Amino acid sequence: MSRLSIGIDIGGTGIKGGLVDVASGEFVGERIRILTPEGGEPEDIATVTRDIVEQLGAPSNTPIGVAFPSAIRHGVTMLAANISQRWIGFEAEKFFEEQLGREILFINDADAAGFAEVKFGAAKDRDGLVIMTTLGTGIGSAFIYDGVLIPNTELGHLEIDGYDAETRASAVVREREGISYADWAVRLQRYYSHVEMLFSPDLFLVGGGVSKSHDQFLPLLNLRTPIIPATLLNRAGILGAAALADGPRHH
Ligand code: BGC
Repeated sequence: MSRLSIGIDIGGTGIKGGLVDVASGEFVGERIRILTPEGGEPEDIATVTRDIVEQLGAPSNTPIGVAFPSAIRHGVTMLAANISQRWIGFEAEKFFEEQLGREILFINDADAAGFAEVKFGAAKDRDGLVIMTTLGTGIGSAFIYDGVLIPNTELGHLEIDGYDAETRASAVVREREGISYADWAVRLQRYYSHVEMLFSPDLFLVGGGVSKSHDQFLPLLNLRTPIIPATLLNRAGILGAAALADGPRHH
């Protein structure tokens, strides 16, 4: 039996949405993508989100999950590393619920992507501790233990060698500094060895746009833990947000 849920994935450049059958992980109809409004202010992002939800045209009781690049505690966005500072301590879930007139579940973007990969993608049905990392503008992380998400791990902000890790090892930093994959892999090695030492995971997943080029850098890493590319690519955030919104509320 199909169960429908809406997933929205808010990023620095685009806001994507889709209607998902969360029993199978398949999209129902077209996905929609709209450019993120300049400045990334909450009101403008809520307006775009409302437009996407309207265009998807699902029944008004369809659950909605919104993936967002911040730690989220009881619907409040806690950080704003790469977005407008107004999101720090902002009651995002409540505000979006008022703007859309519907119940919303806000979820960290990497948590959504990691959950989707365990439910439908590269780590389908894997037990033990799966750590997803997304290498993009920043570094996002997700812990999924025996299929259960432990939210808000924020391992992109581990301090390593005196630096906020994502400012050295994210994919955008590699591009900005114009360093080779081999040089970037040295930084990734430092990063993943540290995370491995702290948490002894059973599997690392690597997502973010750059995971399409995984053969350029994953083989250069030397870890005890298997490390594999995510497979859902830019669909992961939408799928995970939709799947989590379908489940029991956590607050
Ligand atoms: C944010 C995380 C987010 C990650 C990837 C980090 O800067 O703090 O919440 O998951 O970027 O977007």
